[in-house]
Amino acid sequence: MQKELKTIQDNFEAKIKEVISLKELKDLENVFLGKQGALKKILELLKTLDKKEKQVIGKLANQLRGDFKGKIRDKKKAIGEENLDDGKQIDVSLPGKKLPQGHLHPLTQTIDSVKRVFESMGFSIYTTKEIETEFYNFDTLNIPKHHPARDLWDTFWIDEEGIDKKENEGRHLLRTHTTAMQHRFMKKNNPPFRIIAPGRCFRYEASDSSHDIQFYQVDGLVVDKDVSIANFKAIIEELFKRIFSDDVKVRMRPGYFPFVEPGFEIDIACYNCCGKDCPVCKGTGWLEVMGAGMVHPVVFKKAGYNPSHWQGFAFGMGIERIAMIKYGVSDIRLFYQNDSRFLRQF
Ligand code: PHE
Repeated sequence: MQKELKTIQDNFEAKIKEVISLKELKDLENVFLGKQGALKKILELLKTLDKKEKQVIGKLANQLRGDFKGKIRDKKKAIGEENLDDGKQIDVSLPGKKLPQGHLHPLTQTIDSVKRVFESMGFSIYTTKEIETEFYNFDTLNIPKHHPARDLWDTFWIDEEGIDKKENEGRHLLRTHTTAMQHRFMKKNNPPFRIIAPGRCFRYEASDSSHDIQFYQVDGLVVDKDVSIANFKAIIEELFKRIFSDDVKVRMRPGYFPFVEPGFEIDIACYNCCGKDCPVCKGTGWLEVMGAGMVHPVVFKKAGYNPSHWQGFAFGMGIERIAMIKYGVSDIRLFYQNDSRFLRQF
């Protein structure tokens, strides 16, 4: 019987060398260790032996079983490492796991949709600096030093130590509105043109649910021989229809900005109560969305344009305000807190 055990062992050693897949290994395990396996048969025959022989053969057979098990385990590991695409390891036909995907910030989405509308109407996009000088932010826009209108824009002034100051440009500041781009653009380009200028602006104000110290604006400037308020009205009606909905109601009322004459404030009917009365519109039925007007002759003159040859309109709107109305967001500060529970909703 010892001989038989030796044959079984030799056989096993020879066969396991040839095994290359987990399936083959499983079959081998069955042949040698399974219920009908070679070792099992030997163990069954033990009953027929005398006590002494039983001890010797039993011990040998059990050793062999341990040895086979160990070798099968090692082989399994080796196959697993080499052969990762074995059918039992990875089923390549299973659908893949989806990786979480990010998306654009709601403010970026809103700016993009505003840009798309204007681009489709032939506007170009112009961007300039966030750090400006008094000259571009105020002087060229008909807001002279010491004029009370400067108080309309609470300003962050820049610590000027070490900054190269340009003559006649005054102090540096964080631009309070994208309207600061007007003079830069007009100096470098000749009319006719139509542009929008999206960008970040800053105001030194206490923040609350509808004001923050930083925010985005999109300003627009259209200059041509005979543009009128009627053209402006058509353009912004199209804009708000495409951003909000076809039945959006737009109204214009007089407003004061030193760089336009006449100036307007543009409102849209409150999305919540449609012009009646509710807390969203503070009982007025309307939401203010834009400042606008016909370019002031002083602004044209400063840029070297003859105001009797050229006419233009300008407008500026807050992007957060548009996004708040569009998505029903009640607090402007949510846009800057980076809370993924908020951002995931867009
Ligand atoms: N710059 C103005 C503001 O920030 C908006 C505006 C732009 C008004 C252009 C008229 C024309 O409030």
